[in-house]
Amino acid sequence: MNRHPVIAIDGPAAAGKGTLARRLAEALGLPYLDTGLLYRAVGRRVLDEGGDPSDPGSAERAALGLHPDDLQRNDLRGPEADAAASAVAAIPGVRAALLDFQRNFAALRGAVLDGRDIGTVIFPNASVKLFVTATEQERARRRWLEMRAKGHEVALSAVEQELHARDVRDAGRDAAPLCAAPDAFVLDTTHIDADAAFSVALAEVKARL
Ligand code: CDP
Repeated sequence: MNRHPVIAIDGPAAAGKGTLARRLAEALGLPYLDTGLLYRAVGRRVLDEGGDPSDPGSAERAALGLHPDDLQRNDLRGPEADAAASAVAAIPGVRAALLDFQRNFAALRGAVLDGRDIGTVIFPNASVKLFVTATEQERARRRWLEMRAKGHEVALSAVEQELHARDVRDAGRDAAPLCAAPDAFVLDTTHIDADAAFSVALAEVKARL
């Protein structure tokens, strides 16, 4: 095994990347970084100041001022944070400001990172790249169940719309658009549960390392 393996896990919203990445990290004894939190925290900082997350000046300032403590906030999830994250994430200056943090995170011991551009931009030479996906309908259903479990009463159709809008923006932007790296293993989890996804992914990772 590579001494410092980097496992890149990309995919669209609510595909199950986080759960999978966390479990892989634990199984492999590697640190884990949810890179979506970085964009979420930048979006939050802009909202805190009463700014517009799609304004490049405000978003870049927020990204440059990001502090590791910001990732611990408990208001980084939910529709408002989702939309703000996706808006700041389309701004090249924001992505540039977050690049070193992500690369440094894996420098010491390797890492498992999940996001949208880990295998394409942040670590194009990652030891293993997985692209985790599922149909839009299934992903919306999972996010809806997740929200209900947290006590948020929302309509499934509203979650579907929000997820669709975010996917379109993430995949259509010029800066590091969401897409599978050519050498990524594509894992479609539409018809399999989290345990099965983990088994398939772990076998693929072990085969590739
Ligand atoms: O958990 P979920 O899949 O809904 O989202 P996330 O991974 O936390 O990412 C939130 C937003 O941050 C995404 O919609 C992207 O716009 C952005 N993001 C990104 O552009 N690049 C990354 N590496 C991670 C997230």
